[in-house]
Amino acid sequence: MPHERFRFRTLDDLVAKVEELGLDLPLDTDLSPLARRVRIGQKETPNALAIHPMEGCDGTAEGRPDDLTIRRYLRFAHGGAGLLWFEATAVMREARANPRQLLLVEETADSFARLREDALAHGREANGADYDPYTVIQLTHSGRYSRPVDKPAPIIAHHDGVLDGVMNIPADHPLVTDDYLDRLQDRYVEAARLAARCGFDGVDIKSCHRYLLSELLAAHTRPGKYGGSFENRTRMLLSVVRRVREEVPEVDITLRMNVFDGHPFPWGWGVSQEDANTPDMTEPLRLIGLLREAGVALVNVTVGNPYFTPHINRPYDQNIVGAPVTEEHPLEGVARIIDLARQVREAHPDLVVVGSGYSWLRQYLGNAAAAVLGRGWADIVGAGREAFAYPDFARDLLNEGAMKTRGVCVACSRCSQIMRDHGRTGCAMFDREIYGPIYEEGRQAHA
Ligand SMILES: Cc1cc2nc3c(=O)[nH]c(=O)nc-3n(C[C@H](O)[C@H](O)[C@H](O)COP(=O)(O)O)c2cc1C
Repeated sequence: MPHERFRFRTLDDLVAKVEELGLDLPLDTDLSPLARRVRIGQKETPNALAIHPMEGCDGTAEGRPDDLTIRRYLRFAHGGAGLLWFEATAVMREARANPRQLLLVEETADSFARLREDALAHGREANGADYDPYTVIQLTHSGRYSRPVDKPAPIIAHHDGVLDGVMNIPADHPLVTDDYLDRLQDRYVEAARLAARCGFDGVDIKSCHRYLLSELLAAHTRPGKYGGSFENRTRMLLSVVRRVREEVPEVDITLRMNVFDGHPFPWGWGVSQEDANTPDMTEPLRLIGLLREAGVALVNVTVGNPYFTPHINRPYDQNIVGAPVTEEHPLEGVARIIDLARQVREAHPDLVVVGSGYSWLRQYLGNAAAAVLGRGWADIVGAGREAFAYPDFARDLLNEGAMKTRGVCVACSRCSQIMRDHGRTGCAMFDREIYGPIYEEGRQAHA
């Protein structure tokens, strides 16, 4: 079904389009499920809405939050979501995706404690003294997408018949060694320990979007103990989870996980061997069961590769400049990710499941979220790009019963574009004073 921009004036118009496309994408007018409290580990969220991890690429050179980072989290906390998921934060310097990516190590840890405290204090001022959201910090190694100083320094789990070409990675580029992966587990444990000390309720052992731990899940062609069989490909993630559970019992373990890479076999995970566009949930569901047994409390379901298949990961109206717009109707993308989260929820009913990929729905995001939560297809629904454009979306849905129609994310990909142009990112449309000039500057430099 052809790609189409969002042009729906009413919820009924959107419902009619969903029906025309024959998609299972419910939209309800009763928003009461959004206010549900959700138990995660020992804590309850104040509501069932989340802000997804959204990297601003705006930390200091040492990896501490800087002015714009702090501003972002104050705005997020002001918005009153029940779960605040702090962005991709590297566990070691060479694991950073850009020279401004946050880095959680002993020397920077105090600044993360302060960031969390300041954000929550601001949230309490706006939402009342008992506002106490669940906070998670996402721990990452950028792997193939590492760029700790100003040029790419890929650390790859396996050669990839598609991505190596796109990224100019030569055939003799070395694979990350088993020994490196063994030692990397210590860095995750240490970062988890620091995160607990900073007051975070949960750590996310990031396993999505084809960064290192995500790529390892698809390492069919890798020799040795981290490649080939299901057991080997999942060894790294399960080892990190088990060690964190054992050595840092005071923090909950959560995961943001790709359940579908949309990338051809044998280089993709969660895909049919015949067709990269068809999910095969057999292995992801099996792994999630093992992760559950290993102590994971919550899975945030996501898909795709933001560099290569952004239409799967974040359905858009416009792609980044110069990149093709997919044929797929954005509603198909939204419906796919809702369905995949639903499959996780149904297979693992004792796990908290967070849904992603709703921002294309604009001001009707809450109608889809309420419908999904009401049907038990997920426990929490989060927003990514919408949180950049409209950080108060949860507050308005919960307090006013609706989002405003002006200032909602228009899925223009400018936030992704800024990131691609190596700027500090945010919403160039509706947080324009700050991000408009950054967007323009990046375009001039990279056009
Ligand atoms: C600029 C930008 C930064 C992002 N940073 C992260 C990140 O740090 N970690 C992560 O797991 N996903 C990240 N994402 C993906 C979002 O969390 C989210 O999954 C995606 O945008 C789809 O959700 P949405 O439709 O609500 O935007 C980022 C997306 C964008 C556009």
